[in-house]
This record gives sequence, structure tokens and C-alpha cells, in this order.
Amino acid sequence: MNLVLDELTAASPEAGNACSLENYLTLPDHTMDARIAAARAKLGTTTLLLGHHYQRDEVIRFADFTGDSYKLSEAASQTDAKYIVFCGVHFMAESADVLGHDGQQVILPDLNAGCSMADMAEISQVEACWEAIERLGLADETIPLTYMNSTAAIKAFCGEHGGLVCTSSNARRAFEWAFARGKRILFLPDQHLGRNTGYAMGIPLDEMAVWDPWGLQGGQSKDKLAASRILLWKGHCSVHQRFLPSHVDQVRAKYPGIQVIVHPECRWEVCQKADALGSTERLIALVEQAPEGSMFAVGTEIHLVNRMAKRFAAENKRIITLDDTGCLCTTMYRISPQHLAWVLENLVEGRVVNRIQVRPSVKHWARVALDRMLEA
Ligand code: 13P
Ligand code: SF4
Repeated sequence: MNLVLDELTAASPEAGNACSLENYLTLPDHTMDARIAAARAKLGTTTLLLGHHYQRDEVIRFADFTGDSYKLSEAASQTDAKYIVFCGVHFMAESADVLGHDGQQVILPDLNAGCSMADMAEISQVEACWEAIERLGLADETIPLTYMNSTAAIKAFCGEHGGLVCTSSNARRAFEWAFARGKRILFLPDQHLGRNTGYAMGIPLDEMAVWDPWGLQGGQSKDKLAASRILLWKGHCSVHQRFLPSHVDQVRAKYPGIQVIVHPECRWEVCQKADALGSTERLIALVEQAPEGSMFAVGTEIHLVNRMAKRFAAENKRIITLDDTGCLCTTMYRISPQHLAWVLENLVEGRVVNRIQVRPSVKHWARVALDRMLEA
């Protein structure tokens, strides 16, 4: 879990006075509902509660606004609320802090809610990669592009080196933006989203190279790097990488006519077999738009799949998970109703706990990279 404090984040100084979190953690979930609702009501429009689609039902039901990473970053950039309580993971809260106005404060209910994919690229490794690319004389023609699921320092690196940020809902547009300015993309940190996006644009797999941050010169020869149009950082999402092509074959054999829809963080082999790919928001929209009686196997985090199954059952649409062992994002799960009640009740008392703050020098270039995404 990436909580390197140099770049970014600190609990606010007031945190020392806060009602103790330990007093909340022993209480049962259901006892939090009334307390969260009462604190929300008292805070009124001073506070915007954002909820990512992977949040638990007990938490997301209190969100003012739900969405995928793109929608939530837009909401954070447009609100005038003084406090943004982000029920999601660390990189999302950081992006909200970068995009927010002066005087706004972003709160992550549990500071341990990170993202294992974002942790697979550290800024020092990215700088070392770039130095190697420079030494090979390839930097001038390479545009660094990072997935939203990365630290603010990496977003800043991309901003400062002529690149940008993307999410799973606008990756293709960001690739087009980058290819209009360079011959090659260095894509961080999710190899699968990079490979799936590039391939869908007609770039063959043999014009992509995986950059292994632990290997000498990324584990690649100069010729291979120079011939590649996309350098894919060797990172992945442990939740989505669990879906396999055999899962697609199994659901198709068991349920003839089923449609398979998956998140583009899934492996290329899975995406090739799927009927459609999409961000969390898009996966929901695909089912919304389908006729009554449709059946879908969905390859994404289990809380979202279960919620879709409940919601769409009323419209006679059947949703199952692509892998019935269920793929849980344990870090999203860390945001519990107890953590949410704790941050909100502290806010009611005038105390800000678990504030996420990106350092001003990092913020500037991270903002440039995020603005390029929002404008692309
Ligand atoms: P979305 O932007 O599609 O919501 O994805 C975020 C994420 O972390 C998926 O694992
Ligand atoms: Fe990160 Fe994967 Fe969880 Fe998304 S599902 S937040 S990429 S670990």
C-alpha cells in the first residue's frame, strides 16, 4: 500500500483531537446507518460524498454521487463543497485534491484503502525508466501516459514530460492525443489496459513491449524498444487478472446466448473473447440498454456485480459474475460504515481526519496532466 508521505498525504494535525476510531470499529455495521444519516444531514451542502462503484452497499447508499473514476474526478473538479469525502481508494482521493479548489479538503475514510496496481509503479522506477529511454535517444518521440490508478507523483511526471492521464473510459481518446504528438507511448502502470486499448486501435501485439521495472533496461533490447509503439509497464490489477479465458468458455457453454462484458483491466485473452469491454460506468450502461430477458456474465469487482444483479433482476435481466469464486477488491472494501461514520461525526465536530493532501510542487504538474485528460 503506497503511503509514502513525501509526495502527498497526511492526516491533518487536528486528527489528534478526534473521536477515536477504535470506539467505532467494534460496533456492528447496522448501528452506523442512523449515525451516518444524521451526520450527513447536519453537514448539508458543505460536504460532498463520492462513492466508487466498487464500494460496499452499506457505504455507497450514502453517496451523493456515484461513478467510475472519470465521473468522480469530474464531480470533484466541479463541486463547491468545502469537504469531499471520497469513498474509494487513495489515488482517487489524491486526484480529487489535485482537481479541487483552494480551501477544499479531501478526506479518505481509511488511509489504508490503496490500490495494489498503483503500487506497482513507484516514481523512482518511472524516473529510472525514462532515463534509460533518454539514453537510448527515444525520449523525444515517446509520450508518457498514465492510468488514473497511479500516484500523484507519476501523474505529475507525465504532465511535466508532455503527457497526460487517462481512465478506462477515455483511454482511446488519450492514446489518440498522445499519438498526435509522438511516435510511441509509455503506458503506466496497467499493461492490460494499455494492450487492450492499443490493440483495439489496430496496433499489433508485436509492436508493443512490456517494460519490467525490475529488469535491466526494462528487460528489453534497444531494437525492440525502438520498434515498439507502446511500452507497457509491467503492472496489473490482481482483482481483474484473475478472470481467465476458460471462464468465458465455461459461462458460454453453460448459458447459451449469454453476453460477456468485462473491464479492460482484464487480460487481453479474456477481452478478446468478451462481447464488450467498459469502465464500471459503461458496464452498467450496457446492461441498462439491453432488452428485457438479457443475460450477462460480468468480469469486474464482485460488489458491483452483486449490486447490478439485484438492480436488474427487477427488469428481468440476469447478471452473474464471470468467475463464481468472486473477485473482491480488498482495498475498496476497507472503507467501512464505521470509518465513514467516524470521519463524518468528526466533521460535524469541526475536526478533519484522514485528509489527503498532495504536495504543491507535485500538484501543479499532476493538474496539468489531469486537465489534459479532461480536455482531450
Ligand atoms: P473505473 O474507472 O472503470 O471505475 O475503474 C477503476 C478501477 O479501479 C477499476 O479497477
Ligand atoms: Fe486497484 Fe484493482 Fe482495486 Fe481497481 S480493482 S482499485 S485496479 S486493486
